[in-house]
Amino acid sequence: MRLVHTVSELKEVLAEVRTERSIGFVPTMGALHKGHLSLIERCQQDGNFTVVSIFVNPLQFSSEADYEGYPRTLGVDARLLTDASVDVLFAPSAAEVFPKEQSFPEIDPGVVGERFEGEFRPGHFAGMLKVVSRLLDIVVPDGAYFGEKDAQQVALVTQMVDAQVHSGRREPMSVMVCPTIRSEQGLALSSRNLRLSGAELESATELYGALVAGSKAGKQSAEIVEAAKAALSPAIRLEYLELVDASSFEIVERIPSGGARLIIAAWVGDVRLIDNLLIGGSK
Ligand code: PAJ
Repeated sequence: MRLVHTVSELKEVLAEVRTERSIGFVPTMGALHKGHLSLIERCQQDGNFTVVSIFVNPLQFSSEADYEGYPRTLGVDARLLTDASVDVLFAPSAAEVFPKEQSFPEIDPGVVGERFEGEFRPGHFAGMLKVVSRLLDIVVPDGAYFGEKDAQQVALVTQMVDAQVHSGRREPMSVMVCPTIRSEQGLALSSRNLRLSGAELESATELYGALVAGSKAGKQSAEIVEAAKAALSPAIRLEYLELVDASSFEIVERIPSGGARLIIAAWVGDVRLIDNLLIGGSK
């Protein structure tokens, strides 16, 4: 694996590769776990020269404390990626990604970005889209790989890439969505789980328990949400738990034929967790 810190070196490496291979890109903020590794595996299975980025993007954190407290484990991550036979790890500094002398366009997340995560984390999605767009401009991949765990993020990235390709600003590329990887107890793997104590880790498994309980409760939103909430103990401080349309994230009254997404955000101790489950649908 080649470790690259600068945009110019990365572009040089990729210019050579591009003539012979498709390039697959997995953007991350590091503190890698099996969820990230599953995206990488999928990217490799698709036959790509695989580039993974690790960049803790200051623009997408709502507070300085959350940004500072985000786990940074570059040494361990680099070893994991070497073992996974990744081709390039791109680990740039903030000055490399957003050099002061250059300006980068703000990207409006639109109405989908105002809901749920957008409401509870002001500025998060605009910051996320800005860095993803910038990273895609640097790597120019044939495909970029994202996790369904962050379902609203995937919806917004897909919407942004589609619009950019449509306007001719970006070469056609695919946004690939990969399933959520969970612990044996069902907890969606997340870098933030590292900050949970033993007891909190156990409580955190209730989030998935609630989604499963909801998925078995019927077709109406009211009964689904009620059953899901009933599965949560007081250790879980709920921010939202709703049944939504899988692409617009608008609340739905009942599961439409294509299925709906049950989404949850909650605090366990001082850690904020999100999860979701696609339910129903005539498959
Ligand atoms: P990060 O939280 O590091 O996640 C990187 C990618 O891994 C995202 O696409 C995320 O959805 C995926 N992922 C995380 N946990 C997963 C799990 N348990 N199963 C499957 N996939 C999982 O998401 C970000 O970073 C940032 O917002 C980023 C896109 C890198 C922009 O800064």
